[in-house]
Amino acid sequence: KRPVAMAVQRTFSILKPDVTRRNLTGAVNARIEAAGLRIIAQKRVHMTRAQAETFYGVHRERPFFGELVEMMTAAPVVVQVLEGEDAILAYRAVMGATNPEKADAGTIRKDFAISMGENSVHGSDAPETAAQEIAQWFAGNEIVG
Ligand code: PPS
Repeated sequence: KRPVAMAVQRTFSILKPDVTRRNLTGAVNARIEAAGLRIIAQKRVHMTRAQAETFYGVHRERPFFGELVEMMTAAPVVVQVLEGEDAILAYRAVMGATNPEKADAGTIRKDFAISMGENSVHGSDAPETAAQEIAQWFAGNEIVG
């Protein structure tokens, strides 16, 4: 029997304002690349309130929604498409837990994040959300795999 082929997948990533403000975009990208993920699209943007509210629409009713939108629009971010074997789970593994105090050693959030809100990176949680998030930020011809 032939081995099952590993699935090459894409995920959407954001380097959050706490990363751009502290000039850590290269340091975080080095972690991403060391994890075997390829950055196949990338741009620096300053999110508008409307863009942030759309992006985090699923969290609209959560108590931290206002704070989250404020934080994400306070400084530029870097939006990215990452590609690799099981990219969604692979990226979430290297990101670490949402709460940096609970993140495993060696993860991006353990080493760089400040708090639950300023937690350095976003990564898609499922293939459907990855496709939606990528489509919000990138035209097809901006993604070069
Ligand atoms: S869930 O239920 O798994 O979707 O929630 P979670 O992953 O914990 O959080 C979703 C996003 O909300 C951010 N978050 C917060 N921001 C500000 N303040 C507080 N207290 C807070 N708690 C959670 C969290 O960083 C997640 O952002 P993304 O960009 O999706 O990682």
